[in-house]
Amino acid sequence: MKLVNSELILKNAVRGRYAVGAFNIYNLETLKAVVKAAGEMNSPIILQTTPRTVSQVGEDYISAMTKVAAAEYGIPVILHLDHGDSFEIVVKCIRAGYTAVMIDGSSLPYEDNITLTRKVVDLAHSVGVSVEAELGEVTGVEDDLYLKGDKGRFTKPEIVPDFIERTGVDSLAVAIGTAHGKYKGEIKLDFDRLERIRSLVDIPLVLHGASGVPDKDIKKAIKFGINKINIATEIKIAFTETIKGAFKKNQDEIDPRNYLASVEKRIEQIVKNKITLFGCGGKA
Ligand code: 13P
Repeated sequence: MKLVNSELILKNAVRGRYAVGAFNIYNLETLKAVVKAAGEMNSPIILQTTPRTVSQVGEDYISAMTKVAAAEYGIPVILHLDHGDSFEIVVKCIRAGYTAVMIDGSSLPYEDNITLTRKVVDLAHSVGVSVEAELGEVTGVEDDLYLKGDKGRFTKPEIVPDFIERTGVDSLAVAIGTAHGKYKGEIKLDFDRLERIRSLVDIPLVLHGASGVPDKDIKKAIKFGINKINIATEIKIAFTETIKGAFKKNQDEIDPRNYLASVEKRIEQIVKNKITLFGCGGKA
């Protein structure tokens, strides 16, 4: 199938009360594993790359590889820019064929976040690309960024309707206690806040920093209104640990095809488990 934008896919998720998995990919192996898992489970799927991956791999390579992978399966595949940090990178990715973008103005003052998001929405919508924005701030490590957070940076429910109306954004990432990267302490999600946000708006809500969050909390987050769930760290760990394990077993290994095949299998299994947990299997 051709790449699609995320509009209908996420609207269906709101209606059906499930979440679509959004997996960060880094190279051909991670990309193929994610699409294969989704294809075999007949699930819509979102592949996403941060600006650092865009600059390391190249937006044209990423887009071409994703198109080839999507053509293999009859499922909707979305190519999404994760944490776009400027208007320029959004333009670059849209030109290369991305079908959805996130513009992350969450660290800006409220009015500046609105101005930047609106500018991206106007451009993206004119060419059929969907836009995700963030209100409040999800903490932790993403790309080379480290965000320190406290409850003051959680999404304030009462300003969400104003933000959505004035930006025209298609989906919204909310800060309710998750963090990017590996968790150190106990994870405590603010479900009351999420429930309140969901009661005020009906657009798809996005959970960032979902690696390491217990299954029971993920299920509860979906129940209270989350429709897109981002997973990056669990993919990175699986990739690296599988390779470490291969070299532990055979220090003289010299053929990347041997260990990269195991990496693909491992990631495919992780993605299948997440698809089951998120409830998006069979929804393609
Ligand atoms: P994790 O690294 O915690 O999985 O978060 C991923 C994410 O939110 C990407 O935007």
